[in-house]
Amino acid sequence: MKVYRFDRPGSLEHLTLHDEATPEPERGEVLLRVRASSLNYRDIAMIHGTYLRGQQTGLIPLSDAAGEILAVGKGVTDFKVGDRVINTFHPRWYGGDPPSTLGSESYGSHRDGWLTELKVVSQEAVIAAPPDLSFEEAATLPCAALTAWTSLTGLRALRPGQTVLTQGSGGVSVFAVQLARLFGARVIATTSSAEKAARLKALGADEVINYVETPAWGERVRELTEGRGVDRVLEVGGAGTLAQSIKAVASRGEIALIGFLASDTVDLGFNDLFRSGGIFYRISVGHRAGLRDLVRAITASGLKPVIDTVFPFERALDAWRHFDDRAFMGKVVISH
Ligand SMILES: NC(=O)c1ccc[n+]([C@@H]2O[C@H](COP(=O)([O-])OP(=O)(O)OC[C@H]3O[C@@H](n4cnc5c(N)ncnc54)[C@H](OP(=O)(O)O)[C@@H]3O)[C@@H](O)[C@H]2O)c1
Repeated sequence: MKVYRFDRPGSLEHLTLHDEATPEPERGEVLLRVRASSLNYRDIAMIHGTYLRGQQTGLIPLSDAAGEILAVGKGVTDFKVGDRVINTFHPRWYGGDPPSTLGSESYGSHRDGWLTELKVVSQEAVIAAPPDLSFEEAATLPCAALTAWTSLTGLRALRPGQTVLTQGSGGVSVFAVQLARLFGARVIATTSSAEKAARLKALGADEVINYVETPAWGERVRELTEGRGVDRVLEVGGAGTLAQSIKAVASRGEIALIGFLASDTVDLGFNDLFRSGGIFYRISVGHRAGLRDLVRAITASGLKPVIDTVFPFERALDAWRHFDDRAFMGKVVISH
């Protein structure tokens, strides 16, 4: 079978194609024909050495995929040959609080990922794919969509009429705009261009602020909420956006700490955090039960993931280059 590996860190050019033996499913495992995979920011952060959780070298990259079951091992009861599935981001977080092993089992950083023709995993590490989505669409769900879902359902589930703030037009944020609308929430989004602003509005954002033209966008968010602030922030920028998010959040509003896209230094003190009155918590994508809930919501609502470009497996390196250009919107996908 054909697989890609990053033989050495530090450059996209170290992504190389290998021919490897076909794996056999053992008891409780399934063999998948991987049909599509998708990129997330962590997949480029690992190349640039900015990934916060650390990584091993020589692994098959990518954490997200969709495929069909080619064979099942003994004792597999949940799936049969031909079933369409997607993987869970955390292979052994089924529900409840995260296990202590969470950070050391991630695909692409700590174990082989999904940029491969075939893969064997436990039947507990996949769930049924949404029936109405193509493999390419379904492959966008395990990380970006579940992260948005976990952030919106989070400590307290979002309620109709509440206001959500999203940042930019990457994978997590575009799903957040779409999903927040399913909850009946009002959405205020930020982005860097007029063209992306128009597309975010078409997807359901009620207000869009250009964060390049309006660097103090936290104040603008307060104006748009009659001074109250938003009920939930999906904080994907990190150090470079947190100060504005704190200005934008309502007292007792939630700030879901997700990402580190804007890597500037943060200039915040205790008083800033105290005055904000917000509730801060870190997101780690989400668990298997959450992914199941998300798939149900997608199926019931007819939500379609926003795919920027699909690259064929043979041009996987071009997918990374396109992703690294940072001009896309939504998800970049590889068709296997
Ligand atoms: N904790 C978790 O569980 C978890 C899960 C998934 C992802 N993440 C993290 O969350 C972040 C987003 O991931 P992703 O895969 O969605 O990223 P992505 O698809 O690569 O996002 C790219 C987009 O981010 C936007 N952006 C960049 N700088 C920004 C800024 N200063 N303010 C607002 N938007 C900005 C840009 O949108 P515009 O062009 O519209 O400005 C850009 O197109 C990453 O740091 C990722 O590592 C964390």
